[in-house]
Amino acid sequence: MKLVKKPEVKPLRPEFSSGPCAKRLGWDFGNVVKRAFLGRSHRASGSKYQIKKLIDLTKEILEIPESYKVGLVPASNTGAFEMAMWSLLGKLPVDIFAWENFGLAWANDIIQQLKIEDYRLIEEDYGLLPEITKLRDGCDICFTWNGTTSGVRVPNADWIPHNRDGLVLCDATSAVFGQKIDWKKLDAITFSWQKAMGGEAAHGMLVLSPKAIERLENYNPDRPLPKVFRLVKGGKLIEEIFSGETINTPSMLCIADALDSLEWLQSLGGINVAISRADANFKTLQCWLDEQDWIENLVGVGAHRSNTSVCLKIVDKDFLNLSNEKQRGFIKYFVALLESEDVAYDVSGHREAPPGLRIWCGVTIENKDLCDLLPWLKWAFESSKIALE
Ligand SMILES: Cc1ncc(COP(=O)(O)O)c(C=O)c1O
Repeated sequence: MKLVKKPEVKPLRPEFSSGPCAKRLGWDFGNVVKRAFLGRSHRASGSKYQIKKLIDLTKEILEIPESYKVGLVPASNTGAFEMAMWSLLGKLPVDIFAWENFGLAWANDIIQQLKIEDYRLIEEDYGLLPEITKLRDGCDICFTWNGTTSGVRVPNADWIPHNRDGLVLCDATSAVFGQKIDWKKLDAITFSWQKAMGGEAAHGMLVLSPKAIERLENYNPDRPLPKVFRLVKGGKLIEEIFSGETINTPSMLCIADALDSLEWLQSLGGINVAISRADANFKTLQCWLDEQDWIENLVGVGAHRSNTSVCLKIVDKDFLNLSNEKQRGFIKYFVALLESEDVAYDVSGHREAPPGLRIWCGVTIENKDLCDLLPWLKWAFESSKIALE
């Protein structure tokens, strides 16, 4: 048993959670409060102008095609994605690609709740990407661009042919601002602010292609839709949702905060710089992993490895000899130790994933913090082994 010397330098910011993720360095609550329309109606002209500005800036930074609409909707990414599924699905068969907790949640919605009869579920285990090229023509597709709980992402959207008949619904919540999204291949895309933007939770963003809008205006699904899901009135898209009016009351504080994040992303240099920062963080972590004999990326195929939600598995033989329950107990101790030293918060893998770690590497993470964290991982692992012997 090796006793590893306790590192001396701690990361300045130990927030490595995969959601809500770290705020950007220099984030200041006072600056957010100052610009927030607090105590004001969200329908006042200043509030609506701010929401519209947020929509426009989102579109600009993410390079979303001009013809696409961007709206702010309730209930975070889940609300946005379920709104899309409930409003759009049912006309055509559905191919669902799922490889971790969130993709499987959408699959469950489609099969158990929406009861779409003609569906195919193409799934894979944690760490693997399913056969995405197996998609059928003439059907809608649902998938998660970056599986936050397994650290597996699609490398691109080349597998989706141009000019298909069906719609492509994509949960992109842990991919936006970290990976290049091929918007033209997608029709309904959703995300929330608390991941790469380091924003606050509870609001969702819904991006719709002209093809999705056409479906909304011409297909009336035979199911009740709650008010918070309704995007169409009298057979026409409710345009106001995409220009500053919201379905119900949003938090003007969260909106001011999201705008603050977007302006920071813009000041960095936009989407390409945001992606490079995530890539550089991922590279730092992966290079270190390549030198370790006790821990690896959960994802074997390089092109499928997430650069935002990086999931790790322990391959130390003593750890592998433990029962699943004991492995989970070990991880619990390990991450609590990191937390007690204030070097890493919330880095346990998702409860549905195999026991392991998950370290957020998105744009708001400073590379120096990640570098300073790495020796602590080794120290905490060896210390946990000794303590739990
Ligand atoms: C890929 C993905 N989908 C959905 C969700 C749920 O998002 P929210 O909590 O914003 O509704 C998450 C949250 O981590 C996620 O990572």
